[in-house]
Amino acid sequence: MISKTIEKALQHQIALEAYSSAVYLSMASWMDSEGFEGAAAFFYKQSDEERMHMLKIFHFINDNDGHAMVPAIEAPPKSFKDFHTCFKNVLEQEQKVTQSIHELVNVSLKERDHAANNFLQWYVSEQMEEEKQVKSILNKLKIIGKDGSGLYLLDRELGEMAAAAPEGEEAGA
Ligand SMILES: [Fe+2]
Ligand SMILES: [Fe+2]
Repeated sequence: MISKTIEKALQHQIALEAYSSAVYLSMASWMDSEGFEGAAAFFYKQSDEERMHMLKIFHFINDNDGHAMVPAIEAPPKSFKDFHTCFKNVLEQEQKVTQSIHELVNVSLKERDHAANNFLQWYVSEQMEEEKQVKSILNKLKIIGKDGSGLYLLDRELGEMAAAAPEGEEAGA
C-alpha cells in the first residue's frame, strides 16, 4: 500500500522522466537533421531509456495499489544552438532529475516507506551514471573546441556507444 504523499511525489517524477524522454527525442531529431547520425542514435536511445524510467514508476505505483497517471508535459524545444549546447542542456536536465530523486528519497524517509526507499535507490545510482556519462562527453567537447574532425570522431563514438548498449538493458531491472 502506497501513501498519497508518496504517490503524488512519484507522479511528479513520472512527469520529469516523460519530459526528459521528449527532450531527448527532440535532440535526436535535431541531430539527425544536422547530419550527426551517431549523436542522433545516442539520443534516440536515451529517449527510450527515459521512457523506461517513467514506466518503472508506473508499475511501482500500480503494483502498490496506487493509480499511475499519464502526465501532461510541455513541448520540448524543436531546435538547439549547436552540438555543445545540446549536451550542456542534457547535463542541466539530468542535474534537475537527480535533485528531484534526492527529494523523493527524503520523502520516503519521512514517510518511513521502506519499499519506496528501496525502489528509489536504483534511480540514485542511475543518476550518478548518467551525470558521469554526460560530463565525460562535455569534457571531450572542451578538448575538441571548434575542430570539425574532432566533432566527427565524437559523433562516431556516440553512435558506437548507442549500438553497444544492449537493447532494453535496464527494462527488466
Ligand atoms: Fe531518467
Ligand atoms: Fe536521465
